[in-house]
Amino acid sequence: MTASEVLTLRRPDDFHLHVRDGQALAAVVPFTAARFARALIMPNLRPPVRTVAEASAYRERIRAARPADSRFEPLMSLYLTHHTAPEEIELARRHGGILGCKLYPAGATTHSDAGVTDIRALDAVLERMQETGLTLQVHGEVTDPQVDVFDREARFIDQVLAPLTERFAHLRIVFEHITTRAAVQFVLGARAGVAATVTPQHLLMNRNALFTGGIRPHHYCLPVLKSEVDREALCAAVASGTPRLFLGTDSAPHARTAKESACGCAGIFSAHAALELYAEAFEALGALAHLEAFAAHHGADFYGLARNEGHIRLVKSHWTVPERYPFGTEELVPLRAGERIGWRLETVAHA
Ligand code: DOR
Ligand code: ZN
Repeated sequence: MTASEVLTLRRPDDFHLHVRDGQALAAVVPFTAARFARALIMPNLRPPVRTVAEASAYRERIRAARPADSRFEPLMSLYLTHHTAPEEIELARRHGGILGCKLYPAGATTHSDAGVTDIRALDAVLERMQETGLTLQVHGEVTDPQVDVFDREARFIDQVLAPLTERFAHLRIVFEHITTRAAVQFVLGARAGVAATVTPQHLLMNRNALFTGGIRPHHYCLPVLKSEVDREALCAAVASGTPRLFLGTDSAPHARTAKESACGCAGIFSAHAALELYAEAFEALGALAHLEAFAAHHGADFYGLARNEGHIRLVKSHWTVPERYPFGTEELVPLRAGERIGWRLETVAHA
């Protein structure tokens, strides 16, 4: 095998991941643990993970779901509500394994009903986050039903995020799963301390993928897939190697029956092939040289974490994704189900 057919990368991190709880947790954690050293776990359980005590308990449940020899480490985020106490921020900082707090505008996405309706009501909490250096992770979409679903991210930038980055000039902010040219431009032009995660699906697909030959519920996520112009802007930005952008899959498992429904849930499951899909996207851009930094340097550096020791290898070799994976008593349809992926995970060298 030639060197160009093997990619050796420092062990990466996934800075945006949903793993759910209970039997679902056990079904999905091994996929991420096989690829990533750490993952930032989203707190949108029901009820949400709002306190340090809840995050600590959830973290232990995730650790218990790892394969026996795994050293995978979950990192946590607290779900912000109108009842979040500023004192909780101090506790979170002292905990060490909690990187920040997640802002879900109420109604924006899965299990966001306990989220925030008025960001200004959170000023005391955001002030404390700014002081302590905890990061605000933002689901950046307005929820006004009058606003076109494809415009909700751009509108959020103007109405909420741009003013917020100015009002809290030292708050560290990650604009999660960006999907638009407007978001790329905002993040690249923003003050220091603002960064963004990018998912594999938003690099690989545009909104046509929702309707190819019929409606495709397994391509539905939030923020929804956008236009080709938007996808190209995301691709150009990651291909430039900017440290403002880093890996966050937003892998979001839902049972097959909850997706294949008259009112299907939002979320794409990609953990089974997360790094392989990013490799495909970067290869298509001629930017494989920037994959390692995107996957293993920029996020760790932004969060002030040590880069991981150890490496993983991807081999350029096709495999066919299973149609389904077990998911507790249900089943899970992964991204690219029944289709081929051109990169395969070879070995995992533990740190
Ligand atoms: O598609 C999504 N699914 N977007 C989100 O913001 C939440 C996620 C989930 O938890 O299912
Ligand atoms: Zn998410």
